[in-house]
Amino acid sequence: MTNRKGIILAGGSGTRLYPVTIGVSKQLLPIYDKPMIYYPISVLMLAGIREIAIITTPHDQDQFKRTLGDGSDWGLSFTYIEQPRPEGLAQAYLLAEEFLDGSPSALILGDNLFFGHGLPEILAAADRRERGGTVFGYRVSDPARYGVVGYDANGRVTEIVEKPEVPPSNYAVTGLYFLDATASDRARRVKPSPRGELEIVDVLRSYLAEEELDVQQMGRGYAWLDTGTHASLLDAGNFVRTLSDRQGQQVGCPEEIAYHKRWISADRLKELASRLSKSYYGTHLSEILKS
Ligand code: DAU
Repeated sequence: MTNRKGIILAGGSGTRLYPVTIGVSKQLLPIYDKPMIYYPISVLMLAGIREIAIITTPHDQDQFKRTLGDGSDWGLSFTYIEQPRPEGLAQAYLLAEEFLDGSPSALILGDNLFFGHGLPEILAAADRRERGGTVFGYRVSDPARYGVVGYDANGRVTEIVEKPEVPPSNYAVTGLYFLDATASDRARRVKPSPRGELEIVDVLRSYLAEEELDVQQMGRGYAWLDTGTHASLLDAGNFVRTLSDRQGQQVGCPEEIAYHKRWISADRLKELASRLSKSYYGTHLSEILKS
């Protein structure tokens, strides 16, 4: 494990989900039994990361603090950072520069959900790479909505383009970026795009130009779910419901991960479970202790 720190980008205006997100941040909306942000937090935890910066809009920050606290319940440490305006994903590296303090990072978008057997292993492999960056390519049917990877005939990555009209492949870049300590310097050199944003793909391109970008394919055994529309939000909730009801196991449960990693004790887990005992989620926490 390295000294990598985590960043969750959970700002944005959420206009695509209006009127639902007028009063509440998108990343706090429920995905079945828990707030959306529990899922990206769980991914960072599975990667062994305990120091996490949560970037929010200024007016939503209190809601996040009320929901998540300072992280100590889960053996984590949360630092809250404001993003005054949604000026692009790459801005996360500028806003979090002081927090990172020269450490490598794993940035995850607060609305990205990952699930799959073997996820801890691919996260650990990305974490081990100290120089350069690792991102994940995932096959989708509608690549034009994402950052897209272009390959040459030998399967080497040649380009990464944001929302191309003519996508060079069906492989989208997921919202999980393991970058080394040079990410903030690289983000500082990025100029706003025609849509006025500091684009993450420009940071990735700077690694690519130096042959320092590893694009790992996340295969068909993994679920990378979208939460960008009302329908996909509902689908994600149903997906989690199907899995957790069928298996009697949680997806994206920070308490469970913290307990298995021994970041919190059985007594602490019992206390957390009793606080939530009236809910489905709390019942599951009690089950973890029994099993
Ligand atoms: O989900 C993966 C995709 O995420 C990548 O394939 C793209 O390369 C990347 O640009 C991004 O595309 P999106 O169209 O999904 O980005 P969006 O503007 O919707 O922002 C993603 C999340 O980040 C969203 O929940 C809001 C939040 N956000 C966004 C911006 C631009 C911020 O917190 N601050 C921002 O400045």
